Amino acid sequence: MNDRRGFLKTSMLVAAGIVASKATNAFASLEKFPAGIVYTKDKPGKWAKKVGSHAPKVKVEGKKVTLTTRHPMSEKHYIVRHTLISADGKVIGSKTFYPSDKEAVSTYELSSTSGSKLYATSFCNLHDFWLTEFNV
Ligand SMILES: [Fe+2]
Repeated sequence: MNDRRGFLKTSMLVAAGIVASKATNAFASLEKFPAGIVYTKDKPGKWAKKVGSHAPKVKVEGKKVTLTTRHPMSEKHYIVRHTLISADGKVIGSKTFYPSDKEAVSTYELSSTSGSKLYATSFCNLHDFWLTEFNV
């Protein structure tokens, strides 16, 4: 249960940052957070050896976006959730996983593909909250 509480705390901090910014780049406010809250491929912090299995991979095919976290799924260690968020802070979609799921893969349908920036998140119950920024 502590892992889910941690996830909720992290999610609320990120959501607060998104709502607070209401700017073109919703994640500009992430720079205000101390290290250790959000990890990325370029800023993996203490999880530098975990990038490949935690930073969400993104595949875009037309209006379809697929997020994949190549991470083992077991009772003690698994990916809890994916989200896909627009640059203005709207949650396009999310998927919650369970340890019994075979893989952490989620798909979303975009309403348009007009050169916008999107953010994919993935939360591991042991290795925290990861973000991948991309353009469609
Ligand atoms: Fe992990």
